Amino acid sequence: MKQIKELLCLLGCMLMTPAYAAGHVNNPYQGADVYHNEDYAQEIEQSIHRVHDAALVAAMRQLQHMPTAIWLDRIEAIAGGTANSGRASLEQHLNMALQQQANRPMVVELVLYNLPDRDCSAMSSNGTLSYRNNGLMRYQHDYIDVIARLTSEPRFSGLRFVFIVEPDSLPNMVTNLWNKKCAAVYQHKVYQRGIQYAVEQLSGHDNHYIYLDVGHSGWLGWDETLQKTVAFIAETVRATKPGLSAVDGFVTNISGSTPVEEPFLDNPSLKLQGKPVRSDSFYAWNRHFDEKDYIERLDQEFIAAGFPEHIRFLIDTSRNGWGGRYRPRQRSAADDVRHYVNESRIDRRFHRGNWCNPSGAGLGPRPQVSPYGEQHPVAAFIWVKPPGESDGTSDARQQEPDSEGKRYDPMCDPDYVVDYGPAPSRLPTGALPDAPPSGHWFHQQFLMLINNAWPPLLAPHDK
Ligand code: BGC
Repeated sequence: MKQIKELLCLLGCMLMTPAYAAGHVNNPYQGADVYHNEDYAQEIEQSIHRVHDAALVAAMRQLQHMPTAIWLDRIEAIAGGTANSGRASLEQHLNMALQQQANRPMVVELVLYNLPDRDCSAMSSNGTLSYRNNGLMRYQHDYIDVIARLTSEPRFSGLRFVFIVEPDSLPNMVTNLWNKKCAAVYQHKVYQRGIQYAVEQLSGHDNHYIYLDVGHSGWLGWDETLQKTVAFIAETVRATKPGLSAVDGFVTNISGSTPVEEPFLDNPSLKLQGKPVRSDSFYAWNRHFDEKDYIERLDQEFIAAGFPEHIRFLIDTSRNGWGGRYRPRQRSAADDVRHYVNESRIDRRFHRGNWCNPSGAGLGPRPQVSPYGEQHPVAAFIWVKPPGESDGTSDARQQEPDSEGKRYDPMCDPDYVVDYGPAPSRLPTGALPDAPPSGHWFHQQFLMLINNAWPPLLAPHDK
């Protein structure tokens, strides 16, 4: 019976499957179009109604067609989340992707973001599952299985699914075990087991592509941390049934604002007055100043750890643009490290650890395939975080998680001062004021991102 079914499917599926869907390619973005999320276009519509300037409206309309990822940030989101009302279900998205498809393969970017006790070192978005009440089982069966069943249906075989797996999770297991919640998650192997299950269920289909999150250079770029991260990820993936070849690569800078390149700080070995520039407090001896350098290093380390040579990297460039009037236009002429770094860096944050709604940031490089050529480890710039969606509420009254598992985190409060340890230790968060809960539309941030886009989106006289 099973054989007959398989034979029927073989015939049926061959008829239904467009020729270009065949085979698992090395870079799914090559020669493909990317789905633009219709929900995102609707969010932008809210901002369009609030502005009057014609050039700004035109820029916003352009952004409505920009591909951004679909965040499956809770079980309910698969059926079209409730709290953030009016969102499409995953199935509706996939049907819309088929409608958007012309005569090329179509990539659909799906973010898996629902591990139990998610984002253990922060508070703005811990989600709705916990390992303490059966969260891992629910993650596996009510979330991963449901997604895998849908994306492996023959009617969607003409789509290429890029799975962006669990932002911040494994990196938290490397650097944040001082935090009690992270330590408990680590002890129960919650994230590892969740990710291993996801990788096992989702890999092995020609049109499924799997990329694991690997933080960003300002978080994990120190040699020792970077090596620990690679070893921990390798250990996690090696323990899956398919092993290291189950993943296609890694994503960096998800929802981040770390630049792809620091154009005026291109030599981490540079010394001024005998002092290395990387000793400045902004880099704190981390030699990886930007995502490109970080990825080139990670690529070597992952391969040395046993991953196949053809692994590739994606960078979330939705909000790492740093244009606008505070962007340095040239290398500093200062001859001391402090002024040189401060006047040369395009990343204008007070500290590279500031992650919540950073003021001064702009839209980054637009999505692009193989920005450094096909041989380079960067497969594509993509927009994972939909620019304009908040990272977390700045309202200190929201101490309890809401129905989406979201609440106040001091890192999202512009008045909070962070103790970053070694001098200068106390620095403001730089977060934008009046921010709504994470994932909700934040008009003021959207305006700022457009104004500070790099490459610029508006002509200089339009600003
Ligand atoms: C939020 C999600 C949201 C995503 C994209 C995350 O920080 O927790 O709910 O979908 O950002 O904006």
